[in-house]
Amino acid sequence: MEFPFDINTLFSERVSILDQTLVAGRKSAGRPDLQAHIATVIDELGRASAKAQQLTAPITSASKLQSQRHQLYLLKDAESNGGRGVVVGFLKVGYKKLFLLDLQGVHIETEPLCVLDFYIAENLQRHGYGQELFDFMLQHKNLEPVLMAYDRPSPKFLSFLAKHYCLTRSVPQVNNFVVFEGFFLNRSGLP
Ligand code: ACO
Repeated sequence: MEFPFDINTLFSERVSILDQTLVAGRKSAGRPDLQAHIATVIDELGRASAKAQQLTAPITSASKLQSQRHQLYLLKDAESNGGRGVVVGFLKVGYKKLFLLDLQGVHIETEPLCVLDFYIAENLQRHGYGQELFDFMLQHKNLEPVLMAYDRPSPKFLSFLAKHYCLTRSVPQVNNFVVFEGFFLNRSGLP
């Protein structure tokens, strides 16, 4: 995904972690011009993700990120676009209080880290970028994918989770979240 400004100026790292502040590293702190460009990137990514999932409205935007306690991991490729860089995709996560049915069908209250939105640019899908981003987030959060909940995962994302993390056996729920069997087996000490 190309933009009419230099992506490498905005995002110094290959993976940037954005939150409510819309600041990506020290460079954009106290720089409203750079923060406006970051907001443009997030809005564009959110629209593209919604389109890819055939959603009526984006679930990710700069204003939503500013008002919710979520984290957005943004992956760039620094060398493309004549050295100005391109945005490859993003992964948005956040903690949610959920009532989930365990393997016995008993309701339990939990607050797991949830995958809320995930998108890799169309022309770059199936090149391993999604896995790179997901693995970065797992390492940053020091978490196993089986301990996470997935908000309305698309067929592509379900295939991704099965392929890379062997997550295939989901436990039926009455909400839009998907969790897998190990979620209930490995929760000692977790909320
Ligand atoms: N059809 C089926 N499976 C796919 C497809 C596709 N078009 N694209 C990726 N996958 C799955 C497959 O398991 C694939 O393995 P395979 O090629 O051997 O079949 C695997 O992902 C490839 O892994 P990566 O290359 O690391 O994944 P990628 O970079 O493509 O990122 C992602 C995966 C984010 C799901 C991407 O395909 C995408 O953006 N899809 C469109 C948007 C979307 O559906 N996002 C998930 C929303 S749900 C949520 O966020 C909770």
